Amino acid sequence: MSRIAYVAGQYLPHRRAAVHIEDRGYQFADGVYEVIAVVAGKLVDEEPHIVRLKRSVGELRIPLPMGEAALKIVMREVIRRNGVDNGIVYLQVTRGAAPREHAFPKSVKPTLVVTAKRTKPPDPKYGRDGIAVITIPDIRWERCDIKSVALVANVLGKQQAREAGAYEAWQVDRDGMVTEGTSTNAWIVTMDGAVVTRAADNAILSGVTRLAVLDIIRAEGLQFSERPFTVTEALAAREAFLTSTTADLLSVVSIDGKPVANGKPGLLSEKLRSAYLAHTGMVV
Ligand code: PDD
Repeated sequence: MSRIAYVAGQYLPHRRAAVHIEDRGYQFADGVYEVIAVVAGKLVDEEPHIVRLKRSVGELRIPLPMGEAALKIVMREVIRRNGVDNGIVYLQVTRGAAPREHAFPKSVKPTLVVTAKRTKPPDPKYGRDGIAVITIPDIRWERCDIKSVALVANVLGKQQAREAGAYEAWQVDRDGMVTEGTSTNAWIVTMDGAVVTRAADNAILSGVTRLAVLDIIRAEGLQFSERPFTVTEALAAREAFLTSTTADLLSVVSIDGKPVANGKPGLLSEKLRSAYLAHTGMVV
């Protein structure tokens, strides 16, 4: 089946799908995006993704190019045309194409792109053995709560992790507190069993997976706290893990080459991972 993309009103073959060279997403990273998982043909946590999209465009004062109902139809149509049973939908909204000028152009139509692709399940070894993270300074801007396509700092961080043989890089702010990974949220479980993740302030993206895992934690009556933590605290923790739409929930078993606890996935992380996978409809 050949891939089809939705670009500004048209369903086009993927290889011919393009936006204008003066699209502000291309020139200024003046746009936002969402990545939504598809499991057994269904969008996972569609509502909170749409809520976050509306918030992101609102913060940048970009009008949503179509109503919510129409957007949901387009996503389903792209999923259908690409025969995606398990995979992801990528959705991007930019301020549109206009002669290059930093300030907002007067009359411009926002560009909406929707793509979908099948993805293989993540390597089972990540779930089984856990993953390594490194730590790096957080060099990003002060509005990481907006899911902006301006990801170059995240790109550099992820590449640094890859070159160090790690799965992710945890970014650390000027006060020595972990903010989040380059494309994931960061969590620890303290020695007394409390789950800790940074509150959704302007320094992190409010992950939809993070919200789903917090709901599970509340439903299970587990102890938790939304507060920042240091790398030293993470290294002294009983467990650590990360979450995102594409990574789901993975145990962090080492930080900067040093083991977290015994260097094996923790029991609570494993339990939360199973509960989260069940929530998405993935077979555990
Ligand atoms: N990344 N933090 C950052 C910086 C992210 O880019 C993401 C998501 C998350 C987790 O958010 P969620 O749980 O809603 O996926 C946290 C997506 C998957 C990406 O850029 O591919």
